[in-house]
Amino acid sequence: MSAAKLEKPSMDHKESYIKALKEFQAEGRYSFLDIDDVENNFEEFIQKLHEGKKNIHKPYADWVETVPETVLWLVKDNEFIGTLNIRHRLNWHLEKWGGHLNFIIRPSMRGKGFGKKLLQKAIPYISYLGIDRALITIDPKDTSANKIIQFCGAVLEDTLPATDKFPERNRYWLDCT
Ligand SMILES: CC(C)(COP(=O)(O)OP(=O)(O)OC[C@H]1O[C@@H](n2cnc3c(N)ncnc32)[C@H](O)[C@@H]1OP(=O)(O)O)[C@@H](O)C(=O)NCCC(=O)NCCS
Repeated sequence: MSAAKLEKPSMDHKESYIKALKEFQAEGRYSFLDIDDVENNFEEFIQKLHEGKKNIHKPYADWVETVPETVLWLVKDNEFIGTLNIRHRLNWHLEKWGGHLNFIIRPSMRGKGFGKKLLQKAIPYISYLGIDRALITIDPKDTSANKIIQFCGAVLEDTLPATDKFPERNRYWLDCT
């Protein structure tokens, strides 16, 4: 048994990533990815994740500035567990509804402490990218995500009310120095 670690996406975890993608899609996430296409062109898919040049913000792609992004995977015993997205800077949308970070654990691995591990392990990488204070925006009703962020020492800035286009969000700052 090996410890969970954050690493760059790689071909080594294809099988477990595809299984995880099916789990994510079953709960309505990543619907913009075609699983067969990802599976058949996995090397190209990984390459795009490494390039990390985009942050699409569907369905607002045409009026939101794209920012560079680093994507890391949480891996344990050679299995994909979850994804961390680090946006290198904020645009107006990320300042309010997206933040610097997004993290997700595959549904079958939730409730086992991996979310907490992922964010703890993320801090040195965020710092390495030159981000001293990372903004994290979370649904106030998402108990586990709010717990994880508070456990890691993030400080609540405010709660933005829902608008007709965007949902309510707690905005936290995480010290990464
Ligand atoms: C939010 C998320 C990352 C949490 O990951 P996880 O691996 O299940 O979290 P952990 O197992 O580390 O649990 C963290 C805390 O939440 C609690 N928790 C876990 N699941 C819970 C649930 N369903 N209800 C209430 N509390 C819960 C745990 O007990 C733990 O608290 P503790 O440290 O006081 O015991 C995961 O649910 C997820 O991927 N959600 C979808 C994406 C998302 O919302 N990301 C948010 C950041 S952008």
